[in-house]
Amino acid sequence: MQKNFHIITYGCQMNVHESEKIAGMLTELGYSQCENIAAADVVVFNTCCIRENAENHAFGNIGMLKKLKSSKRDMIIAVGGCLPQQMGKADNLHEKFPYVDIIFGTHNLHKFKEYLLLKQTRRKSVIKIEDDAGIIFEDDKPFRTSYPNAWVNITYGCNNFCSYCIVPYVRGRERSRKSENILAEIRNLIKDGYKEITLLGQNVNSYGNGTNDLSFPELLEKIAAMDGKFRLRFMTSHPKDFSEELAKVIAENPKICRQVHLPVQSGSDTILKAMNRKYTSADYLKKIEILKKYVPDCAVTTDLIVGFPGETEEDFKATLELVNRVDYSSAFTFVYSRRNGTVAASMPDQIPEEVSKDRIIRLVELVNTLTREHSKKYVGKTVEVLCEGYDDKKKMYLGRDEYGRMGYFENDKDVIGEFVDIKITNANGVSLIGEKV
Ligand code: SAH
Ligand code: SF4
Ligand code: F3S
Repeated sequence: MQKNFHIITYGCQMNVHESEKIAGMLTELGYSQCENIAAADVVVFNTCCIRENAENHAFGNIGMLKKLKSSKRDMIIAVGGCLPQQMGKADNLHEKFPYVDIIFGTHNLHKFKEYLLLKQTRRKSVIKIEDDAGIIFEDDKPFRTSYPNAWVNITYGCNNFCSYCIVPYVRGRERSRKSENILAEIRNLIKDGYKEITLLGQNVNSYGNGTNDLSFPELLEKIAAMDGKFRLRFMTSHPKDFSEELAKVIAENPKICRQVHLPVQSGSDTILKAMNRKYTSADYLKKIEILKKYVPDCAVTTDLIVGFPGETEEDFKATLELVNRVDYSSAFTFVYSRRNGTVAASMPDQIPEEVSKDRIIRLVELVNTLTREHSKKYVGKTVEVLCEGYDDKKKMYLGRDEYGRMGYFENDKDVIGEFVDIKITNANGVSLIGEKV
């Protein structure tokens, strides 16, 4: 009989790719992916805990499955990812949702298959948050779902301990995969027809640190030198490790996309220091200057946090000023969320919700204005997009250009996975509308 699985993913691209690894294990066991959760024999929640709302979202959805589980006793529910990896959270989850069958973390993701088999042979829940951090597993066979893009891990974990961030606690210390393994994986992906490779790490710029393997720019060069038409992206770069050498490598290799995501978080030096970001706003602007010197047309995107403990109106204004100066082509904006166990959680002077709300509204307004201005410049231009999907609502294909902008266009035949030239006719906000030329 056909056995089905359904995975719900929260959080960052790292998690999206790890869901592909979980899907790979389930496929090996003979399961097929299904759209409808009620038709699934195994449901996996791959969770995130970067902010409180990400956590609440997962909690809410796991809660909603109680009814389905009571009418479908054989259904196996598993919860994995960053949320259970937090200290004490696995037991917490088990108490709150006793009908969850398997709870596992990020460090022991590779053992999910084993836990599933174990659960099938016994009645008790399997709750395992083992600490295998530090070991790099090279034998996963992801079931990829993002063609024509393929995610490729280059580093795991993070050593930066930004004072607001939970990631170092739930992902362990930074470690880099061997370049020979990364290169072999990418060679195969290109052979299999993937047209875009996105390298993943919490801080890709520090790839290879502490080893005598390649540096990040050297790794990029090796990948960009591979035959075939494909694009190369990477995320995320920490500004403190962004080097001139990297800017040069981007400039010299057209396969590397002209978009760099360089999270600044704040424009205030006092706040940056309290955040433990290890750069000042002047240092950051200098990096942007270096990047633009080599790649003048490079799109720069960022992450911003408002309402960090102690943030004054002056500090916030410094953020607005920096955002204006850099002229980001788009940005992710967040309200600071207090995460237990982080240094910032016990800082005095947590900012009242209404103040943060007011600031985020002002910041989003500015970011949207900049994004719209960037979009307007596109009208009348022809850009090459890599078609990555079809939007059922808009009845249009969609794809991104090398600056990371999404363009929509109509077409009779399926062109997913192909490079398509489109002439932009309309630009309203982040996405562009064009006609195939
Ligand atoms: N490693 C990446 C980003 C990881 S998390 C980097 O350092 O750039 C993605 C973004 O979430 C961060 O850049 C930050 O802007 C935001 N973030 C992290 N912790 C947060 C918190 N406690 N509250 C609000 N936003 C947070
Ligand atoms: Fe979090 Fe900072 Fe590490 Fe990014 S670099 S994951 S924000 S601790
Ligand atoms: Fe969330 Fe974990 Fe990514 S906390 S942002 S899923 S590393």
